[in-house]
Amino acid sequence: MRVRADSSKPASVQADVLAVPIYREDREPPPDLAQLDEATGGAITRTLTWGEFNPIEDETALIEVEGIKAARILFVASGRRGRGAWRARRNASKATRRLQGRGATSLAFWLRDGEDADGYAAAAIGASQGTFRPYAYYGRVRDTPAMLRSVEELILVGQEAPDEHVLSDAMAIADGVEWARELSNRSANDLYPERMAELARGLADDGCTVDVLGPAEMQALGMNALLGVGMSSVHEPRLIAVKLPGWEAGGNRRLAIVGKGVCFDSGGISLKGAERMEEMKHDKAGAAAVLAAARTVARLAPETPLMAVAPMVENMPSGTAQRPGDVVKAMNGKTIEVINTDAEGRLILADALHWAEKEGATHIVDVATLTGAAAVAFGDMISAYFARPREWGSEVAAAADATGEWFWEMPLATEYRDTLDSAHADIVNSAAREGSLIKSAVFLSEFVTVPWVHVDIGGSAYLMRDKAHNPKGSLGTTVSTLVRLARDFAAGA
Ligand code: BES
Ligand code: MN
Ligand code: ZN
Repeated sequence: MRVRADSSKPASVQADVLAVPIYREDREPPPDLAQLDEATGGAITRTLTWGEFNPIEDETALIEVEGIKAARILFVASGRRGRGAWRARRNASKATRRLQGRGATSLAFWLRDGEDADGYAAAAIGASQGTFRPYAYYGRVRDTPAMLRSVEELILVGQEAPDEHVLSDAMAIADGVEWARELSNRSANDLYPERMAELARGLADDGCTVDVLGPAEMQALGMNALLGVGMSSVHEPRLIAVKLPGWEAGGNRRLAIVGKGVCFDSGGISLKGAERMEEMKHDKAGAAAVLAAARTVARLAPETPLMAVAPMVENMPSGTAQRPGDVVKAMNGKTIEVINTDAEGRLILADALHWAEKEGATHIVDVATLTGAAAVAFGDMISAYFARPREWGSEVAAAADATGEWFWEMPLATEYRDTLDSAHADIVNSAAREGSLIKSAVFLSEFVTVPWVHVDIGGSAYLMRDKAHNPKGSLGTTVSTLVRLARDFAAGA
């Protein structure tokens, strides 16, 4: 998709379709729509009053119009009146998704309440996301070329057009988001640790240094928490590390982004139920996000002192699987009693976080589909984060806000640490359900000493069904945030 900004009036922008946001407050056409309404001979008033489009129940409506440059208007339900990156991203996504398979090559998207540069960039990313077709990866032969049409040119209409590089950077970020979605959507028989490592090796083309550790290296380093999970499968574990050209020179300021890479989470011996177990191919969404973010930053700002770390495993029940009650010694020397083999994410992250720190990371952000509790508490729109110190968390949250992702802080209540006491080891990997979202973060905190943020995308990584803004499957959650954070981090050095 190509993108540009245009500060003409919406009525005079040349495009196949003009997208007009409609707010909940717009029962009667408001003054800022009057010009457009008049130019189209009252088409907007007619649509709204006749009830063809009710912004409370309907997501979009497409009508043919005359009198303006565009041949059609697409009404997009845009929630309450207001501006901001999150809203711009979501609404732009609804618009391009609605036009899938239609004859629209160009879309003019009206930023009706104006947006700053971040809002423009977010709209561009969202519009790109709306053209994503998950099934295109494995193919669907019944689709004809006409059904596969998407918007190819996006024109952002508003008064505050940003510098050109803002929009070209946004498209690079959108590419990263798309790659993360594709990786996360890929099935576990197709994408297992070794394959993920092969794909990561491709980042050498972007100037990155790619290291891949296998079981022997992990053993030598004492990464027994990672190995305990990883040895359950015929697909051996891998630890992927991607360093940008700027990593070495980073000195006393280096950022590591660490992503949970469970290619499939069956639960292991503590086997999950069959219902929706297929979704657990997405348990590698964190790894997909950090690799995609690293690739994007490598292309936009290779001098950034950034490293992506992805511990990759498949969590399976088998003769070599670890058992509840097993005790493993993590790389940092702490012993862990594995109460539940389904709490595997924190085990692989324990070693990955410590390893990242040993490699010289001064700041860490991990991204993980760590708990079902995050999905219960936050749903699919919001990612939960924990921070130590909280100031570092604020930087991460600011990066999320700027790119239109929604993060919300949870308390890292180490007061709960004693509920993780073990009779046989230093810590258990799973305790009573109460407060389990917080306790999962408290567990991780035992394996990091530098400033650190843990982002739980258990609910926000993928959609369980099609929505107006995106199709079922991975959303590429946190990619845009991590790219922004890394660039802000480098700028703040
Ligand atoms: N990958 C799951 C968490 C998950 C579940 C993410 C559903 C998204 C949707 C994780 O490994 C897991 O199984 N967590 C357990 C932890 C429990 C055993 C302490 C959970 O959340 O139930
Ligand atoms: Mn699990
Ligand atoms: Zn898991």
